[in-house]
Order: sequence, then C-alpha cells, then structure tokens
Amino acid sequence: MPENTLTITDNRTSKTYTVPVENGTIRAMDLRQIKTDPEDFGLMTYDPAFMNTASCRSSITYIDGDKGILRYRGYPIEVLAEHCTFLEVAYLLLFGELPTEKELKQWVWDITHHTMLHESIKKFMEGFRYDAHPMAMFVSTVAALSGIYPEARQVLDPANRLLQIKRLIGKVPTIAAMSYRHSEGLPYVYPDNECTYPENFMQMLWKKVEPKYLAHPAISRALDILFILHADHEQNCGTNAMRAVSSSQADPYLSAAAAASGLAGPLHGGANEEVLKMLDEIGSKDKVWDHVKKVKEGHGKLMGFGHRVYKNYDPRARILKWAAEKVFEVTGRNPKLDIALELEKIALEDEYFIKRKLYPNVDFYSGIIYQAMGFRPEMFTVLFAIPRTAGWLAQWQELITDPEQKIARPRQIYTGHGVREFVPMEKRSNAKVAAD
Ligand SMILES: CC(C)(COP(=O)(O)OP(=O)(O)OC[C@H]1O[C@@H](n2cnc3c(N)ncnc32)[C@H](O)[C@@H]1OP(=O)(O)O)[C@@H](O)C(=O)NCCC(=O)NCCS
Repeated sequence: MPENTLTITDNRTSKTYTVPVENGTIRAMDLRQIKTDPEDFGLMTYDPAFMNTASCRSSITYIDGDKGILRYRGYPIEVLAEHCTFLEVAYLLLFGELPTEKELKQWVWDITHHTMLHESIKKFMEGFRYDAHPMAMFVSTVAALSGIYPEARQVLDPANRLLQIKRLIGKVPTIAAMSYRHSEGLPYVYPDNECTYPENFMQMLWKKVEPKYLAHPAISRALDILFILHADHEQNCGTNAMRAVSSSQADPYLSAAAAASGLAGPLHGGANEEVLKMLDEIGSKDKVWDHVKKVKEGHGKLMGFGHRVYKNYDPRARILKWAAEKVFEVTGRNPKLDIALELEKIALEDEYFIKRKLYPNVDFYSGIIYQAMGFRPEMFTVLFAIPRTAGWLAQWQELITDPEQKIARPRQIYTGHGVREFVPMEKRSNAKVAAD
C-alpha cells in the first residue's frame, strides 16, 4: 500500500477504497466514489461551521493555535509589529514579499493618491440617519463604490484588480472617518496627502477648526500597530465571506462589503465593542469575581475570551497589552484596564476557563486602547475593518488566481419532507410556524 494514503472500508458494502493523503488532508471529492449502489450519490462529509474542513490552499497567513503563533507570509507578527508600518505589511500580504525602499515609496504614494471619495458617495453617506451605526454606514458605502467603479467587474484582469486594491485600501479610512463624523454631526474632512496612513485617518476623524491636525506620534504608531495586528487572520468568518462571495466573480467592493458584514457580528469583530459594554457593566475591580461566577453559571460569555483557533494565547493580545501601556503614557490610564487585568487574572486561574482553553483574544484589549484614543465603542469594528480590508484583498487575489477554485457551493443534508400532495386552502389546518 503506498505511503500517504488512507484506506477506508465501507461496512455497508464491505468494499475498500484507498485515497491519497496530502498535507494531512484528504479530498472530500475522493469520498464521492464510495457508493452503496450505482444510483447512490456518493459519500459526503458533514461539517457545520467548517470545524475540520480546509476550503483553500493559502500562502498568506499561518496560525498555530496550540502554540499561539501568527505569521504573515512567514514573518512572525511580533517582528512585523515592531519593525514595519501597516502599508508595508499590506504590501507583504498582497505581493508575498516585503517591499524594497523604492517599492514602498511608490506603494505609499499610490495608496495616498486613492484616498478621496467621489462626491456622490459623500451625498450617499449624508442620507443615513444621524444615529446610524458607523459599521452599517461602512458596509453600505463600501458596496456603493461598486456603482462608482463599474470596471471593477473585470476581476480576471490583473491590472484592473490592482487598481481596485489600491482604491479600496486608500478609501476605507476615508469612509470610516466620514461614518464617524456623520454620527457626531460634524462636517466631513478631506484626506491630507502629507500625512501617513494612520495620521491621515486621525486628521479626518478629529480635525476641528485648526488648519492642520497631526496626531501624537505615539498614538499614530500605536494605531498603525493595531492595524498590523488586524490585517489578516486566515479563513475566519469575514474572510470566508470575502472568498465565498467573490468566488461568483462579484466585484471586490461587493465582496468586501459582505466580508465587513461578517466582521460586524458580536462573535467576530463586534466583540471588542461588547468587551467595553461588559467592563462597563462590571463597573469596578471588586465586582469581577461575581461576573466570572455568572458566566460560569451559563449567564452569557466572557467577551474577548476564547477563540476557534487559539487554544493557548492569542499572540496579538500580548502585543496589545504592551501597546496599551504606550498609549496610556500619552492619554492617561483607562480605568477599565484595571478591571480587564483583574478579569484576565481571575479567568486564567479558574478551572472553567483552563479546561476549555479560553484565553484573552485580540478584542479583549483593543477596545480599551481605542477608547483611550478617543473612539466611541460603535467605531471599534470599523477600526478593525480598515486594516482587514488588506487581508480580504490578498485572499481575494489568491482565490481569483487559484486554478482549483470555483464558485463556492456547499452541499446540504436535506432533512425536510419527501414529496407531498398539495393541500387546497379549504383543507389546511393551522400549521405551527417555524419561527414560533
Ligand atoms: C470566539 C468564539 C466564538 C469561539 O467559539 P467556538 O470555537 O465555537 O467555541 P465554543 O462555543 O464551542 O466553546 C467551547 C466551550 O467554551 C465555552 N466558551 C467559549 N467562549 C467562552 C467565553 N468567551 N466565555 C465563557 N465561555 C466560553 C463554551 O460555552 C463552551 O463550553 P461547553 O463546552 O461547556 O459548552 C467563542 O469563544 C466566543 O463566543 N467568545 C466571545 C466572543 C469573542 O470574544 N469573539 C472574538 C473572537 S476574536
């Protein structure tokens, strides 16, 4: 029997099959040959929530959840956070290599010169209610760009793809800042090409009547680091949405809007907003123990804890803890940090959390930093979406150029009725509605 194969005996038929094992994986389609009779559709796998299914080959991000490792294109996240800017990391994610000085200069120039929004997009955003959630505005506006750039549909043209990539990375901070200004009732601020990527974002957010706004260097560096940490995280819910939607060759604006919608949920990027709400509810350090007790009794979850992949420690949380201290040196200490530290301490020593391998994730500390920087919790997920756009686009590019990929179309196990005879209206009895 050749090595790297799996032999399966179907006890229904006593037949034996041998399928190749590659990269610790068997191909689900190799199981289709396993049939009870020629009419049988063939064996499928059932994997709700993709707990054990690889949907693609990817060379972008590597995670070892048991060891707490995260690397982009082979470089440890800690090294990139220490030495790079976010745009440098975005380049790495998209093109596979760190840029040379010349390449980086050109890349930064290109992104900087794609930060403006079409004036009709501004009007589109003005149509939102004053209290619209900034994430609702962000998602809708990213999708609306599809109407501004119809040529973006040419997804098989590499030059066209690159143009849309530059546009999206350039414009997401502008959209995010305008969503925020709208909710504050403030006039929109246009991009400033003399600023770096995080500085420009912050001047679009915070500028009032001063002729030029420049954020404190420690704050803009901290935001850039936060952007690096959030740039990609392999096949999570939002990225999976990006790949699933763009597999139909929908343009990148529509696909990124779908990805951002996935990110908006409280179990994904929306978690940092929930962490702040939770810390507010707890109120003080001495109430932490009561809260942990309630969680253990099944009343809610400890937001910012647990991860589908990390079962040791989220390496991003460690860098964020460090970044938090740097930010607080400028802004003053966010009192919520003490509650968070106490919560982490108690949870990490508690049997319930140890047994389930629940550790702080990236969202546990990011919200506290964002709040100290002056952001309202509603903005937190938008802050996540800005850098993740680079990751979504890298994954999109990889999908489009992967000859093995096709339109994403999972199978199902049908659990409904067999064919039924139609019941005329006068003979129908009250049916129980599924949503009851
Ligand atoms: C991230 C998350 C969705 C991963 O979920 P998952 O891999 O499906 O894990 P499960 O829901 O199967 O959890 C396994 C066990 O841990 C418990 N658990 C998971 N996260 C928990 C949390 N944050 N607080 C308390 N218990 C938690 C579950 O109740 C379950 O317990 P059980 O075995 O007694 O039923 C989940 O941990 C979560 O909801 N965390 C809070 C939200 C959050 O911070 N999200 C941001 C992710 S970056």
